[in-house]
Amino acid sequence: EPEIITDKTQMRKWSRGMRSQGKTIGFVPTMGFLHEGHIALVKEARNHADLVVVSIYVNPGQFSPSEDLSTYPSDINGDIQKLMAVPGGVDVVFHPHNLYDYGTTNPSVENVNGSGGDEERNVGVVSCLENNGLGHETWVKVERLEKGMCGKSRPVFFRGVATVVTKLFNIVDPDVALFGKKDYQQLRIIQRMVRDLDFAIKIIGSEIVRESDGLAMSSRNVHLSPEEREQALSISRSLSRARIAAEKGQINCRELKESVIKAIEEAGGRVDYAEIVDQESLVAVEEIKSPVVFCVAAWFGKVRLIDNMEIDM
Ligand code: PAJ
Repeated sequence: EPEIITDKTQMRKWSRGMRSQGKTIGFVPTMGFLHEGHIALVKEARNHADLVVVSIYVNPGQFSPSEDLSTYPSDINGDIQKLMAVPGGVDVVFHPHNLYDYGTTNPSVENVNGSGGDEERNVGVVSCLENNGLGHETWVKVERLEKGMCGKSRPVFFRGVATVVTKLFNIVDPDVALFGKKDYQQLRIIQRMVRDLDFAIKIIGSEIVRESDGLAMSSRNVHLSPEEREQALSISRSLSRARIAAEKGQINCRELKESVIKAIEEAGGRVDYAEIVDQESLVAVEEIKSPVVFCVAAWFGKVRLIDNMEIDM
């Protein structure tokens, strides 16, 4: 059975103790409602470290007010059952209630601003608006990589991800951390952040796990109606066709993107973006002459799904 830790001080203590015994720690951050995609990361973590920590935390810092934080699915007991069934198990489930609770000894700007007391200062109003009300004003921003694709339609998303992953890295102190290629831009942003800020953590990217019909697994798939679930197959199907076409020599990105957009729209989806970008830099290309990744985000009803396929040329 995994040890369940909800307190960040306890988590840090556990990691310090294990590291002082010379054990290595593999870490899989998640927002819970676990599926086979998450479980594949957990299994992979076993191959890279002595101990495995899985975090389950729906991070408010990466949702904008109009997004689906309040309806994000959760099932902590089901998640723990699934983790217990993993061969080798997991050692710790880190399930904090609120990672933005800094206690009273470390007052937030919000507590100081407008209190009318001696400490009142003319700061805080802006950060109150910009910080999602988290009482927190330090953000990790990976400037260029977070601008395109998902960053365009979700402007606070990646700074929220980079910041919470930084917090989790500082608390869990892992040797290795695993991220899925399902969230390709997220993986590249974390790799870049780790390089730029000298985190001594090896980042491993893991392949996308799909349902048997090709739909990329996602916690959000439960919100799809049966009809939307069927429509959503247009993403993986059209991406597969585009990859095959590219491998056969159709390297014009405009045509490849048009065919994917058309297929998704005809199925009843609304495309947010379809982009063919360099696998490392995520810069858009016009012709496929080197390793690229074809990334798509599309809406089916109220559900926004993302998927991608690497095309290695
Ligand atoms: P979440 O969406 O729960 O995903 C946790 C990890 O599982 C991510 O690394 C994601 O890429 C991976 N994953 C999800 N679906 C996958 C699939 N079908 N195949 C392979 N891997 C998959 O991503 C997040 O949470 C959050 O942004 C987080 C990094 C935890 C920060 O809050």
